[in-house]
Amino acid sequence: MRSILVTGGAGFIGANFVAYLRSKRPDARVTVLDKLTYAGNIENLKAVEKETGFNFVKGDITDAPLVESIFAKEAIDAVAHLAAESHVDRSITGPKAFIETNVLGTFTLLETAKRHWLSDGALKAHGARFLHVSTDEVYGSLGDEGYFTEKTAYSPNSPYSATKAGSDHLVRAYFHTYGLPVITTNCSNNYGQYQFPEKLMPLVIINALKGAPIPVYGDGRNVRDWLYVEDHCEALYLALEHGALGETYNVGGRSERANIDIVRRVCSMIDEAVKDKGLAALYPCDKPRESLITFVKDRPGHDRRYAIDCSKIEAQLGWSPRHSFEDGLQRTVDWYIANRRWWERILSGEYMRFYESNYGARLKERS
Ligand code: NAD
Ligand code: DAU
Repeated sequence: MRSILVTGGAGFIGANFVAYLRSKRPDARVTVLDKLTYAGNIENLKAVEKETGFNFVKGDITDAPLVESIFAKEAIDAVAHLAAESHVDRSITGPKAFIETNVLGTFTLLETAKRHWLSDGALKAHGARFLHVSTDEVYGSLGDEGYFTEKTAYSPNSPYSATKAGSDHLVRAYFHTYGLPVITTNCSNNYGQYQFPEKLMPLVIINALKGAPIPVYGDGRNVRDWLYVEDHCEALYLALEHGALGETYNVGGRSERANIDIVRRVCSMIDEAVKDKGLAALYPCDKPRESLITFVKDRPGHDRRYAIDCSKIEAQLGWSPRHSFEDGLQRTVDWYIANRRWWERILSGEYMRFYESNYGARLKERS
């Protein structure tokens, strides 16, 4: 039986991954370690939080004694490391937290895993595995042609991607130097349920619903490769269980889109959904929502294009994206419409008050 530590499990991908993991491995023990920063949300784990074999610890991955106590108490033999500061815009205005969490936090986890799993250079914890979840942004920006492969040279352009690149290099070094059993994945842009409403997709959906201006950076022609979050979770699970040690796997949706095209498509989907679901009184807007698009000043150092060649994980682990972009987007739009309370509570600050009164004391007791 595995005892899996999921860092950042209360965040967007982390919460989706925990749900996926529970469905695939109900026998495994799952411990989530999450600091519950502004991006973490304990409500994202509502479906699993009371299940036997699930354990939540509120804490910081840079807190070495805490990480040590979790490894010892839970006999951790697998790590899925998702905790990170993840938003590029925030890394531009405040890079320090990114260095602390993404670099020092990863270092703390690697050191602890090394202490527990290795002895005199040999692996004493047989079958132990450390999955490091990273991003395609470490490769920098593409021109109009070409794809990122696992062999593409690193060229990070934002403080966020520089810290993720730093963490990737540390993970690689712990494999080559110490023999730590690591696997790294580098994934493209995710979208889906529970994504914090600062990222493009949920921000556009919510602003379109509310009839608020939709900010598009620069000329809107920057291209991202979009992957529905459940497909990413499947890739992470396969990499954790079956990935070759020391290898990296690129994960992507084979679904390149210019930002402006995505924004236009979301606007039309919301127009249709509001009409079809009879929600016009709740979400009034007397013109097509495309008219809400507002071009704003570009993000400094804005990477022009990302595109992933995911043929390695397809060939070696039998993974491929199951959801088309249209299908994933429709599911996402429907989820945000059905879960208005979730995002309203976050945007109003009510979630933080709710969290303190409902979970604060209990989480302090547990951690
Ligand atoms: P997120 O910002 O939604 O969630 C991050 C989680 O980490 C939050 O729950 C937060 O509370 C927690 N956290 C932050 N600092 C912490 C710390 N010091 N200690 C413990 N917990 C801490 O991020 P996400 O979008 O879910 O991304 C998860 C991972 O996947 C990140 O490593 C990110 O780099 C990577 N990734 C994200 C995407 C994407 O499109 N979102 C794509 C590729 C890779
Ligand atoms: O590529 C993977 C990365 O994708 C992850 O590693 C990051 O954690 C994740 O945040 C995401 O980074 P991006 O910078 O690509 O995502 P974001 O949603 O912030 O922006 C997507 C694109 O949309 C980008 O080109 C900037 C643009 N944008 C974004 C926002 C928030 C806008 O035009 N307007 C906006 O308001």
